Amino acid sequence: MGRNPSSAGGAGRRGATDYTAEIDAADRAAVASPIVSRTSSHCIMPKILVLFYSRTGHTAALADAIAEGARSVRFAEVDVRRIDDLAPPATIASVPGWAESRAELAAKYQTHGPIEELAQYDAFLLGAPTRYGIMAAELKNVIDQTGPLWNRGALVNKVGSAFTSVATAHGGHETTLWSIMTPMANLGMILVPPGYSDPVMFAGGSPYGATATTGAAGPNEKDLAAARHQGRRVAEVTGWVTHAKSHHH
Ligand SMILES: Cc1cc2nc3c(=O)[nH]c(=O)nc-3n(C[C@H](O)[C@H](O)[C@H](O)COP(=O)(O)O)c2cc1C
Repeated sequence: MGRNPSSAGGAGRRGATDYTAEIDAADRAAVASPIVSRTSSHCIMPKILVLFYSRTGHTAALADAIAEGARSVRFAEVDVRRIDDLAPPATIASVPGWAESRAELAAKYQTHGPIEELAQYDAFLLGAPTRYGIMAAELKNVIDQTGPLWNRGALVNKVGSAFTSVATAHGGHETTLWSIMTPMANLGMILVPPGYSDPVMFAGGSPYGATATTGAAGPNEKDLAAARHQGRRVAEVTGWVTHAKSHHH
């Protein structure tokens, strides 16, 4: 069975019929052919997207650590994509260093493409720096384009997890993470925050998602370790979810 959005997404607003029809066809094929085992015909490689906006590179550093953790899980396929700035060119030019860091990030990371591409993923790790306690508009703008996907339930039962970076000690870590998780819940995603599911979570990040108090220095090693753990955990849980979806009980 191929990896297409209708099988990976589960039963959405579109209805369960496409999904079950496809599973039934795969079951029949598995029974009919002694060579194609049920396991091989159902084996799905989870696809994970780490999608972030970053202006000065701190959130990008967390995204790298998250991707590293996710890639440490066998069989997980991980894409990392940046979101471009929304500010007008004149605004970008007026802030020292903005144009340079934008060019650096554009050179280092592939910029995310058409919104329809989101449907192919099984899990989303969405990150943005805080802007006055909530996610930066660049990430919100991508989320705000998911209407057609929402409408057909294409993101229902996909795994979702959030991360952010914040300049000051209590400058909005948790409120920003929840600002990202609220639309995830609305889209019907299965939220997988890291919690305190590993000892590294007692030293860095937050139980709601990877975060860092960046100041001028950027994420420290403890926050990066927590971010790696979040990536690993999300990849593991996504493996369980996609495996369960691919079996017709
Ligand atoms: C318009 C604006 C609003 C911000 N609001 C906050 C804030 O409320 N609290 C805070 O601690 N940092 C705030 N920051 C700082 C950034 O969120 C922080 O430096 C972040 O780590 C930058 O991430 P980046 O390097 O990925 O762009 C703000 C920055 C800007 C430009």
